[in-house]
Amino acid sequence: MPTCWNRSGTRKNRRSGLWVLVAALLLSGVVLAQQIYLPPAPAPPAEYGKVVLNSHAARSPGPVVFQHWLHRSKFTCRLCHVDIGFAMTANGTGVTQESIRQGYHCGACHDGKRVVEGNVVFAACQGDQYVPACDRCHAAGKRGVRKYDYHSYTAKLPKFNFGPDWMKAEERGLIKPADELVGFAPARPRMPLREDFGITTGLHWVRPVTFSHQKHTVWNGCELCHPEIFATAKKSDVQYTMYSNIEGHHCGACHLKVAFPLNNCAMCHLHAPTWAQQ
Ligand code: HEC
Ligand code: HEC
Ligand code: HEC
Ligand code: HEC
Ligand code: HEC
Ligand code: HEC
Repeated sequence: MPTCWNRSGTRKNRRSGLWVLVAALLLSGVVLAQQIYLPPAPAPPAEYGKVVLNSHAARSPGPVVFQHWLHRSKFTCRLCHVDIGFAMTANGTGVTQESIRQGYHCGACHDGKRVVEGNVVFAACQGDQYVPACDRCHAAGKRGVRKYDYHSYTAKLPKFNFGPDWMKAEERGLIKPADELVGFAPARPRMPLREDFGITTGLHWVRPVTFSHQKHTVWNGCELCHPEIFATAKKSDVQYTMYSNIEGHHCGACHLKVAFPLNNCAMCHLHAPTWAQQ
């Protein structure tokens, strides 16, 4: 910045120069606020990935609270979002008491019979009579109705600067997310893994993004991303930007709500400063 601050300039000049700069910044504050487009602050880790299902709030014993942290420690994203068919949008699936009783949606597991990790999974929406156990799911605004608590459940899992580090937990065998629901959907042969690749932004001041096909496939299979999120036959078919991510498309389809949040710049932009977190 050779022309901005001249060494021979007097102190007074420098000061007034500074004030001009500050005034200019203040005046253009509105414009600046519009140009700085950052991801929204994520919910705290215990609430991150919480979905309130309330399409039938009036008829049911109250809205249902679904937590990703518990379920994703036991199952892959692919199992629920491809095999069982849950939408990737809150209330996008149309879950009903009827669909559950027929063994779909939550009922694929919560049927009072299926055994997961040695426990019989408690039943959903059985019987029309309200009993206190209904509140384990119909839990919105109710306290002390649940067996699992975020802090004790995740206490033994490795953490990074935002909640549990699910990848490390999986690599160390602390969690073993199942990718198949026996008797629900037939096991399918897996597609061969694709190579990992770097994503360059074309802006020299933005650190290149790393993207691991292999690591993503562990959780997502191929079908969660292709063709819906990335209609890709070859690299660079899809034009994605940080803006489209923040708008909830592309990487943001997962990294705003369930996978680690976009505010963690350095997770994707290697060695980026850790500004704008949380
Ligand atoms: C046990 C099943 C299950 C697992 C495992 C699961 N999800 Fe979900 N997910 C759901 C349900 C249920 C919803 C809500 C759907 C609805 O309301 O119609 C949901 C919603 C979402 C949403 C939308 C959230 C919102 O607030 O709009 C995203 C994004 C998502 N899941 C991503 C993931 C990712 C990524 C993984 C793996 C790390 C994952 N899910 C694992 C069941 C699951
Ligand atoms: C792929 C299987 C699967 C699906 C699908 C599934 N769950 Fe679960 N869920 C489980 C398992 C396993 C547990 C742990 C049960 C236990 O240990 O008692 C669990 C636990 C829970 C808990 C914790 C209860 C507590 O007392 O802490 C809630 C709440 C819950 N599920 C709600 C839902 C809702 C709502 C849906 C549908 C939107 C759903 N689940 C879909 C497998 C599933
Ligand atoms: C494993 C979770 C779970 C449990 C346990 C559960 N439900 Fe539900 N229930 C749901 C979900 C998910 C919905 C759909 C919520 C929505 O979108 O509003 C639902 C919806 C309902 C509805 C709305 C009517 C409709 O057509 O969908 C009623 C009524 C209902 N449940 C009754 C009960 C009763 C009574 C119990 C206790 C005997 C119970 N549920 C226990 C998950 C559960
Ligand atoms: C988390 C999301 C995600 C998952 C999961 C995923 N991909 Fe991709 N894939 C991408 C992205 C992003 C690109 C690059 C898109 C672009 O540049 O247009 C890509 C590119 C590709 C390409 C074109 C480039 C190349 O490497 O030849 C193919 C083919 C492909 N993926 C196949 C697969 C297969 C097979 C699987 C499962 C084994 C898979 N993908 C899993 C996100 C994903
Ligand atoms: C379908 C959901 C989904 C999409 C889309 C997605 N991710 Fe992920 N990503 C995940 C999940 C799940 C993890 C595991 C970690 C977690 O949940 O916090 C992960 C982990 C990562 C990691 C850490 C992996 C490592 O090497 O340690 C990076 C980096 C990452 N994603 C970048 C991206 C980028 C860049 C894109 C867009 C090109 C993208 N992701 C799109 C779900 C997704
Ligand atoms: C989940 C991975 C991920 C995270 C986290 C992430 N980015 Fe990005 N970022 C991307 C991808 C993918 C691109 C697009 C690369 C391209 O242009 O092909 C991108 C592009 C950019 C660009 C270039 C301009 C543009 O719109 O393409 C800037 C600037 C940027 N990111 C800043 C940030 C900042 C600041 C943060 C933290 C607040 C952040 N990113 C967090 C994946 C991520």
